[in-house]
Amino acid sequence: MKRSLLKMADLSKADIDDLLNLAEQLKYERKNGIAHPYLAGKTLGMIFQKSSTRTRVSFEVGMYQLGGYALFLSARDLQIGRGEPVEDTARVLGRYVDAIMIRTFSQKEVEDLAKYSGVPVINGLTDYEHPCQVLADLMTIREYKGTLEGLKLCFIGDGNNVANSLIVGGLTVGMTVAVACPKNHLPHPDALEFAKNYPGKFILTEDVREAAKDSDVLYTDVWASMGMEDEAEQRRKEFQGYQINAEIEALAKPDAIVQHCLPAHREEEITTDVFERHANEIFDEAENRLHIQKAILVKLMS
Ligand code: CP
Ligand code: NVA
Repeated sequence: MKRSLLKMADLSKADIDDLLNLAEQLKYERKNGIAHPYLAGKTLGMIFQKSSTRTRVSFEVGMYQLGGYALFLSARDLQIGRGEPVEDTARVLGRYVDAIMIRTFSQKEVEDLAKYSGVPVINGLTDYEHPCQVLADLMTIREYKGTLEGLKLCFIGDGNNVANSLIVGGLTVGMTVAVACPKNHLPHPDALEFAKNYPGKFILTEDVREAAKDSDVLYTDVWASMGMEDEAEQRRKEFQGYQINAEIEALAKPDAIVQHCLPAHREEEITTDVFERHANEIFDEAENRLHIQKAILVKLMS
């Protein structure tokens, strides 16, 4: 595995398998009261330029369970919020902490942090990707289905950060990935370019039904991501129909699971009835953020 986790393309299939196996072991140990202080004495700095419930709490709790310490660093309070260059912030933090997790807007900021800090950096969400989320999703899907290879994953909605990571991650582990999104909200060109390496395994369509048909996993995310608040009203119009509802659910396989990275906007990208029918799967997915991120921390920091 590389020194940092900046995007899904940093991971090979073997890397993902290793992370999922370690996460499964850590989850088992946690449930059975077996302590695993692999990161005793280590410190993680966590920079947040955007809001978070799951990412913040799961990284902080995860570091604690591993015997280490996590510092929450709001960008509003850091000098970075007053214009201190990221390369200087990186060089300073690299002298204090053993690894950095960052949630921000630009992918370049994360790449620069990794370049200048000299310590492992974890992407906790950018406008480009959300790799920790998608690793938790793959872990959850494997728990429910027993395997990943050969499954059909259908993503409906905005071709956003989560979609980009799902395309790369899903294809890497041997899934067929079908994405239904409006034509002016396509996934990032890099993700589409990556998909060209998997002929016959990637479907991009405006037709939600075609994408959902015979799926093993139905996945959606908000129509307006963080930072798009001003466009939310306009997007509500553009994304009409790009919704997981009972009709779409019926097109998937009878034992299909539904995933949502959360937070969810009920009656927008997913209806309340479908969400509640699949709530266990969705909250297992949220729980697995903790276990997979602990695996990432152990792999990068010990
Ligand atoms: N899914 C996710 O990353 O949630 P938060 O924004 O609450 O961290
Ligand atoms: N696409 C969403 C994911 C939130 C976890 C966003 O970026 O806001």
